[in-house]
Amino acid sequence: MGSGIAQVFAQSGYEVSLIDIDAEALDRAVGRIGKSVNKLASKGVIDPTQVDVIVGRIEAIDRIENIKSVPLVIEAVPENFELKKRIFQTIDEIVPEDTILASNTSSISITEIGAATSRPDNVIGMHFMNPVPLMKLVEIIRGVATTDATYNRVREITEELGKVAVEVQDYPGFVSNRILMPMINEAIYALMEGVASAADIDKVMQLGMNHPMGPLTLADFIGLDVCLAIMEVLYKGFSDPKYRPCPLLKKMVNAGYLGRKSGRGFFVYES
Ligand code: CAA
Repeated sequence: MGSGIAQVFAQSGYEVSLIDIDAEALDRAVGRIGKSVNKLASKGVIDPTQVDVIVGRIEAIDRIENIKSVPLVIEAVPENFELKKRIFQTIDEIVPEDTILASNTSSISITEIGAATSRPDNVIGMHFMNPVPLMKLVEIIRGVATTDATYNRVREITEELGKVAVEVQDYPGFVSNRILMPMINEAIYALMEGVASAADIDKVMQLGMNHPMGPLTLADFIGLDVCLAIMEVLYKGFSDPKYRPCPLLKKMVNAGYLGRKSGRGFFVYES
């Protein structure tokens, strides 16, 4: 997600610092951005003469301490509250007080993340969708303390990126994952109970409901560990058993079958 977010900012003319503590992950991210920008150029979405300019706007950094004096930071680390909290607290000490701190979290509370910093008024959620360069939506999540000024600035930036912003209040899963994940989880229950094969469950939703991908293919695309983490947030956040993660989803994550990124999920992928 981080590389996609960096890419759409660079495509809109922003200078971007892409930060990851893992230098190899940074290399892979820059490679992915190059490929995606070239693909968009080959389709006429962006001017081919701008490919190098766009990629050149992205500076890869492997130390968070080297972050610059920027107006906006967007965090896109895995869905783990303690990790996010630690990163927000570190960034909070480094960047100017008026810098907006956004999280690309797909379900974790913006209010709680904001409360861990000295600037909850300047903390907000910017939830991009995968693949970021193609998907139009950004859910903008207001924590309890997020000010109108922060919200309005982030909405403006989102529109500059050519995306459509939807304002959402801070409840578990926001809108997107509160609706999407229970559907995916139910598809996994249907598979576990033998209602139909994985391919047929997907076929029903693709051909019957016109979804671009079936729910199990989509789960593999998102990452089964991410799907499980989001179901756990919904389950705990609402204290409602209707959100209980499917045992088959847990079993697959425990087996290391994480979907496309691990080469195997509900389907098998060639590298
Ligand atoms: N950059 C540039 N081009 C890309 C790309 C990227 N990152 N990813 C895919 N493409 C290209 C493909 O290479 C392909 O190019 P060709 O036409 O030359 O082959 C083109 O886009 C279209 O792709 P496909 O033909 O393979 O398939 P498609 O027309 O179905 O589009 C898709 C692909 C947009 C991903 C579509 O399948 C889709 O909309 N799927 C659902 C995605 C979705 O639901 N996303 C949200 C996930 S949830 C989330 O992100 C949030 C969360 O918190 C979990």
